[in-house]
Amino acid sequence: MKHLLSIEQMSREEIDGILRRTAEFKTNRGRISAKPLAGQTWALIFSKPSTRTRVSFEVGIRELGGESIYMNAADAQLGRGELIKDTARVLARMIHGAIIRTYAQRDIEEFAEFSGVPTVNALTDDEHPCQILGDIFTIQEKRESIENKVVTFVGDGVANTARSWLFAAGKLAFELRIASPKRYQPKGKLLRRSSGRVFCTEDLQEAARDADVLYTDIWVSMGREAEEARREAELGPYWITESLVKLAKPDALVMHCLPAHRGQEIDEKTFEAHAQTIFDQAENRLHVQKAILAELVKTE
Ligand code: CP
Ligand code: NVA
Repeated sequence: MKHLLSIEQMSREEIDGILRRTAEFKTNRGRISAKPLAGQTWALIFSKPSTRTRVSFEVGIRELGGESIYMNAADAQLGRGELIKDTARVLARMIHGAIIRTYAQRDIEEFAEFSGVPTVNALTDDEHPCQILGDIFTIQEKRESIENKVVTFVGDGVANTARSWLFAAGKLAFELRIASPKRYQPKGKLLRRSSGRVFCTEDLQEAARDADVLYTDIWVSMGREAEEARREAELGPYWITESLVKLAKPDALVMHCLPAHRGQEIDEKTFEAHAQTIFDQAENRLHVQKAILAELVKTE
């Protein structure tokens, strides 16, 4: 694996390999002396805010023996119009890998192509692959396997997280239900890009029935702030509440990629009742990303 740009481009074997390695990194944290990133410097180039992704990558790189530099894309010449392909070719002379959070998926693809250094998608408008890999790991950790489970995504069904779930469903044998208003459901071409068992519905209650996992994300993703009022009005009924959880399996997991907006996509009581799972999910970003980095620098 040269880059990690999307779940869509990953094979089942690559996903399984990373998840296996994640378990090793988690179990052995602080006890592994191998430093696969020793002597390397990785750049985090972010055009959007971040708490979890930034810190988990910075800590992960350090634990693997490397160094990181954080660049706010707006402060770089990128912010004044320098081309991505030029930035990529300059940085490639200096860094060993790049972790990029931005808007357009094609921008990280272009960076990967022109830099040639391992490039990781730390969230674009299209996908959030590191998040969903960490989430799948969390489900495996708590329920042994994701195989034949039902994952119900509640809210903006075309958000980056939902799209990564959509592609994951095409690689792993679980059922994905997307409960969203019509306007926020994946359709046509996008839907056909996944070969998974995916069902989209406006009927939230039906989607939650006997689910193994209820998953949600914020209604207003970064970059969509101008649509805030409309999204709040249209996504209003699509939230995770105690009564919704009652429709799912009795041991259903409630998951949230964070940051959470209580009173919108989830209510306070439900969030706190499932805080253990949600914060395990956040912690697992560190372990899964270490596995990704180690995989990207593997030399055989
Ligand atoms: N879930 C997630 O990616 O969080 P951050 O935006 O804080 O990185
Ligand atoms: N869909 C959200 C995810 C945040 C981690 C966003 O893009 O803002």
